[in-house]
Amino acid sequence: MAAQIARPARLALRTAPSLSATWRPIVHGRLGFQKNPMVQTAVRHKSGPYNYTQAKALVFSKTGEPADVLNIHTHSISPSLPPNAVLLRTLAAPINPADVNTVQGTYGAKATYSSLIGTAEPSAVPGNEGCFEVVSIGAGVTTLKPGDWALPAGSGLGTWRTHVVVDNADTALVGISKDKLEGLSPAAAATSTINPCTAWRMLRDYVDLVDLSVRSGTGAGAWFIQNGANSGVGRAAIQLGKLWGLRSINVVRARDTPEATAALRQELTDLGATVVVTEDELQQKGFSSERLRSELMGGESEKTSPLLLALNCVGGRPALGLAKCLSEGGRMVTYGAMAKQPLTIPAGMLIFRDLAFHGFWFSRWGKADPAGRRQTVEAVLDLMRQNKFKLGPADTVEWTWETPAETLQQAVGGTLEGFRSGKGIFVFKDT
Ligand SMILES: NC(=O)c1ccc[n+]([C@@H]2O[C@H](COP(=O)([O-])OP(=O)(O)OC[C@H]3O[C@@H](n4cnc5c(N)ncnc54)[C@H](OP(=O)(O)O)[C@@H]3O)[C@@H](O)[C@H]2O)c1
Repeated sequence: MAAQIARPARLALRTAPSLSATWRPIVHGRLGFQKNPMVQTAVRHKSGPYNYTQAKALVFSKTGEPADVLNIHTHSISPSLPPNAVLLRTLAAPINPADVNTVQGTYGAKATYSSLIGTAEPSAVPGNEGCFEVVSIGAGVTTLKPGDWALPAGSGLGTWRTHVVVDNADTALVGISKDKLEGLSPAAAATSTINPCTAWRMLRDYVDLVDLSVRSGTGAGAWFIQNGANSGVGRAAIQLGKLWGLRSINVVRARDTPEATAALRQELTDLGATVVVTEDELQQKGFSSERLRSELMGGESEKTSPLLLALNCVGGRPALGLAKCLSEGGRMVTYGAMAKQPLTIPAGMLIFRDLAFHGFWFSRWGKADPAGRRQTVEAVLDLMRQNKFKLGPADTVEWTWETPAETLQQAVGGTLEGFRSGKGIFVFKDT
């Protein structure tokens, strides 16, 4: 998807000394900042001689731990674009677990290595999500204009870079026109295209919970249960569920102190969670469907309030814990494997309780239904604009032209370690 319009690194290095003198402010309100109140990103890009754009990208040429295999590559991008291509400047790009797993070589989608940006060895740029500003467009591009924002419409663009040229821009990108940026921040838009959409599809496509809510005749919403409830996907499911009148049981890992656990409970409750329970509570108390009902679901009966959907982010014993809570005929949708443990399900759950187990991968779903993917992203953006959908806590990592490779590598390496205070997000400044 990302097109080649690169000069070899050799040229980039030769032109580098002249860069600081050639800042190019693009559009925008006073002082070169965008007008959107949530966005205070300086918007300018480095330009070399003959209007070549100077760009940097995190690249890897073989899989491994991020600190060992990720490098910074500097290159130049020609100002002349193919008719259907656009030049984009990155504003924000999250560091999702799937991106790290792709670098490690353990993800479902494998990296495609190429020499398009002039690396010495064929390389790939990680990152599936990002929010870009359109810098310039080819003559045949109809849906984007300079100054608009753009998001990837599919997977595998490679977003951990300062600039990118994208071919077939009208189909490869979801545009956000300049006059529709109000209420959006680059970080929020950059995280809108996978996690919220994954939650959306899982809540709507397996069990008709909205219909179930109506049929219950109680006026109360149908229930679902999920683990990894404080993940990006989990937080999205809480918010969407609340918007659709559903009730959620949210399983999280206890923090290091009771105070920190209480703070996390409160955070998720404020987002719209109905019940928050720790993994230890679920395991130690050995919640069965009956026990769950009496202790967490206000004594509601299976008949009026069946629990028919479980979303599994974690795998291993935590996943079995969720399955035990499901009502007869319930469905578990597995979308993550954070514990790196296999899912072991007793046969009785399938035979006597008629539980069904599914896997969901948004990339696959989106390839099969690109229009549906685009519509889901646009629906999420609309909720964000209306302040009905909030970005979770973020650990922003500033990426300027001078940011050393180690800072970027460390941000990536830390993504799968320990409790994180928020999602890692590269926020691009003066690049
Ligand atoms: N199938 C799909 O289409 C799809 C789409 C999006 C995401 N995903 C997957 O969903 C998962 C979450 O992604 P995200 O971007 O939402 O993640 P995220 O925001 O970075 O959150 C990571 C979550 O994983 C939990 N976690 C980390 N290590 C764990 C462990 N060893 N055991 C149990 N829980 C652990 C974290 O809990 P703590 O805070 O307690 O550490 C946190 O809730 C990933 O596996 C990702 O690949 C799948």
